[in-house]
Amino acid sequence: MHISNIPVIAIDGPSASGKGTVAQRVATALGMHYLDSGALYRLLGLAAQRRGIALEAEDRLAELAGQVDIRFEGADIWLDGAQVGDELRTEEAGSAASKIAALPKVRAALLDKQRDFRRAPGLVADGRDMASVVFPDSVLKIFLTASAEARAERRFKQLKEKGMGANIAALLQDIQARDERDTQRSVAPLQQAQGASLLDTTPLNIEQAVQEVLSRYHALESK
Ligand code: C5P
Repeated sequence: MHISNIPVIAIDGPSASGKGTVAQRVATALGMHYLDSGALYRLLGLAAQRRGIALEAEDRLAELAGQVDIRFEGADIWLDGAQVGDELRTEEAGSAASKIAALPKVRAALLDKQRDFRRAPGLVADGRDMASVVFPDSVLKIFLTASAEARAERRFKQLKEKGMGANIAALLQDIQARDERDTQRSVAPLQQAQGASLLDTTPLNIEQAVQEVLSRYHALESK
């Protein structure tokens, strides 16, 4: 199959909106591949910190993006030959990711790595700029969001389930700061792309959100 015929479903949105879980379940339901693009930024941030590279060192970070060995196997993620666990999901890792994600050369260096995930029979890609930059020819573009308060609560529950300590007020502050940085940056700012349809999950549970994406996809197929 020619690459341009492999369908991509782009699911973009702010952090802790639940888009990762929704995207993963949609991929499973459709038997498609899944790309967690945020994990790539998180992994690169982690690799930089391990090597003592500053999170502002644009050229060195872009170079590092070409060197790191990143592998996804199901739910397992490997960085330079070693498995990465929960440290990737901490607020610190998210914050480091958001800092390096503001650098244009870093984003450019990660483009091919992301596009490599496009394989038959299809891809569900989750991130911030899937619909606008990485896969502009996506067949379905969803902007999935929820109120900042709902997202802080979801992240709080998630961390508690993992046995990690959390403070809901601090989480809300962190989410708002990250939203601000992600929407204000000059390259690939977080925004609803042209042609994307809005899915506000504030009143929905995960299952309802998954069903909504699937029904929008099936509606396309029957056209
Ligand atoms: O989605 P996740 O919270 O894992 O992403 C971490 C950070 O990586 C985001 O706050 C954002 O700054 C950045 N990111 C991005 N573009 C993407 C995915 C993530 O800029 N496609």
